[in-house]
Amino acid sequence: MITEAAVLWDRGEPWSVEPVELDDPRRGEVLVRIEASGLCHSDGHLRTGALPSALPIIGGHEGAGVVERVGDGVTSVSPGDHVVFGFIPACGRCPACSTGHQNQCDVGAVMGSGLQITDQTARHHARGRDLALMCLLGTFARHTVVNEAQCVRIGADVPFEVACLAGCAVITGYGATIYAGGVEPGDDVAVIGVGGVGVNAVQAARIAGARRIFAVDPVPHKRDLALGYGATHTSGSIDAAYPLIKAETDGRMSQRVIVTMDVARADLLAPILRLTAKLGRVVLVSLAAAGPQPVTINLFDLTMREKQLVGSLSGSANPHHDIPRLLDLYRDGLLDLGSQISATYPLKQINEGYSDMADGTNLRGVLVMGS
Ligand SMILES: NC(=O)c1ccc[n+]([C@@H]2O[C@H](COP(=O)([O-])OP(=O)(O)OC[C@H]3O[C@@H](n4cnc5c(N)ncnc54)[C@H](O)[C@@H]3O)[C@@H](O)[C@H]2O)c1
Ligand SMILES: [Zn+2]
Ligand SMILES: [Zn+2]
Repeated sequence: MITEAAVLWDRGEPWSVEPVELDDPRRGEVLVRIEASGLCHSDGHLRTGALPSALPIIGGHEGAGVVERVGDGVTSVSPGDHVVFGFIPACGRCPACSTGHQNQCDVGAVMGSGLQITDQTARHHARGRDLALMCLLGTFARHTVVNEAQCVRIGADVPFEVACLAGCAVITGYGATIYAGGVEPGDDVAVIGVGGVGVNAVQAARIAGARRIFAVDPVPHKRDLALGYGATHTSGSIDAAYPLIKAETDGRMSQRVIVTMDVARADLLAPILRLTAKLGRVVLVSLAAAGPQPVTINLFDLTMREKQLVGSLSGSANPHHDIPRLLDLYRDGLLDLGSQISATYPLKQINEGYSDMADGTNLRGVLVMGS
């Protein structure tokens, strides 16, 4: 069939919305009509090259839609089902999956190719070339073919533009705080960068019973929004947060620091560790440019105060368990998702959506395919 998708042909170029030839789903694969896709910063990293990938590539990994057709052997979803995609495949059987770490599934090792898991070939083609898929999904499209391992069935009551957020921004921010961060009632938590992911870290800290929640972001209206999601204090920079957190915590500093700013930078690690209490933990969610970066941190301080620095991918969560659970929290009114959508765009306006992200206008922009 012919569908339409946003393709990145080369680094630095805008997304090109154009016709794409889509093959039928093969064994274990699912054809999904995408209804909504969030504009995550990670797809922006594809354009800059900070996130290496095969090219040309269809972007997008935060999507929701309706199953249209399934290939042989697919048992967990059927035509008509509403699904949200997990942005990492979860086979369910590898050591990581079977010990409750679906976000580290061994199948993730093939993600860089952007090709189908089963046979490492492409189902998407344009201008006579095979197209790779961001996170093996390619949700900046009207239709896609993905592996069953990435389809999470959800109830039909959640609007697609809300549901799609659960696939990345929500699972990542919430999980980084609850699972990787292990925030406990009474903890002080700092969230560095209150964008699409960070706002869900703020909400998770509130749900976990954090005492003080320090939201750090240079954009004033994001700081104001953070207060509405549960932040108790705000600051415009990491440097300005230091005296604030020091004063508010009587010098103990923040037990958990969740880093969700636009790009991870090696030079900010030392100031971030200064915000962290003894026995505290920094959870690094933000992507840095791939490849090693020299880091200068106070190792003496790390040892003496027993600070921890951990990374977190997809909120260290289990998409098949957590996506439906997060949507339950939304239904129960504990997680506010609808208000995170600052603007919706038709697929053709994807570049406008990303420029609104770049200039700080959006908490989250969402493509709505029917618009
Ligand atoms: N680890 C994962 O699984 C995972 C998943 C999703 C996104 N990410 C990464 O998380 C990061 C955030 O993604 P997003 O979609 O929320 O981006 P976003 O653009 O919506 O939000 C980033 C926020 O950081 C703020 N910021 C910029 N410089 C800052 C600074 N010096 N101090 C504090 N805040 C600052 C921006 O104003 C913005 O509000 C990106 O690097 C993205 O690639 C990682
Ligand atoms: Zn994402
Ligand atoms: Zn697995």
